[in-house]
Amino acid sequence: MNIVLFGATGMVGSRIAAEAAARGHRVTAVSRSGGLPETVSGDDNSVVAVAADARDRERVAELVKDADVVAAALVPPRDGSDPRAPFVALYTDLLAGVTAGGAPRTVIVGGAGSLRVAPGMRLVDTPDFPAMYKPEALAHADVLDALRADAATLPMWTYISPAPQVGPGERTGDYRLGVGDDLLPQAGSISAEDYAAAFVDEIESGAHPRQRLSVA
Ligand SMILES: NC(=O)c1ccc[n+]([C@@H]2O[C@H](COP(=O)([O-])OP(=O)(O)OC[C@H]3O[C@@H](n4cnc5c(N)ncnc54)[C@H](OP(=O)(O)O)[C@@H]3O)[C@@H](O)[C@H]2O)c1
Repeated sequence: MNIVLFGATGMVGSRIAAEAAARGHRVTAVSRSGGLPETVSGDDNSVVAVAADARDRERVAELVKDADVVAAALVPPRDGSDPRAPFVALYTDLLAGVTAGGAPRTVIVGGAGSLRVAPGMRLVDTPDFPAMYKPEALAHADVLDALRADAATLPMWTYISPAPQVGPGERTGDYRLGVGDDLLPQAGSISAEDYAAAFVDEIESGAHPRQRLSVA
């Protein structure tokens, strides 16, 4: 498949790039800096690094015009400002570019904070949720709300939340997939490598259009 991945140099995105390349896909690895993901060897011709801003709709349209799938592992601003409106605007621009470019599907790296832990209670609303991650979690929740609100007009999307803790680790290929908003039991943590495996499985299958998934 031809995959255009925004946020490809990041902690999560670079592992998605490596997973996709290992499965024989062609990856256009996009970031503003334009570097090659550190998980990918410079000899791997299946990954091409490109510098572009996901907010530049025309540039996005140009990049995705031959894509089978667009993937996004973008971050809300982490400079202490309120990230909520800028993150929704970032995804609004990206998806407008995807629509203009005619790419059929977009798979999005989400957040865990909006997953439900009890009826009417999200993880981000629980007393022990770390205050420092709350703005980012709420920004992710806003993006998911916007995707659902505009489902009829947006290109096909799938939103995949990781477990509450995700970081570099081991690829076991062993993960649990939740469909919908409930946090999986004992969700705990997942390695970014196993999250990437689940993410690329969804890229390949397209099995969950306009749905929110979670991986633990
Ligand atoms: N448990 C959880 O809920 C959980 C845990 C970890 C991560 N996450 C989520 O996973 C996502 C990825 O996190 P991460 O830690 O991998 O982030 P990261 O390491 O900061 O990577 C972000 C990537 O996005 C790129 N980027 C940012 N703004 C861009 C723009 N306007 N246009 C193009 N590229 C842009 C960055 O490159 P440039 O700066 O060069 O553009 C980089 O490649 C985030 O949304 C984060 O909230 C969730």
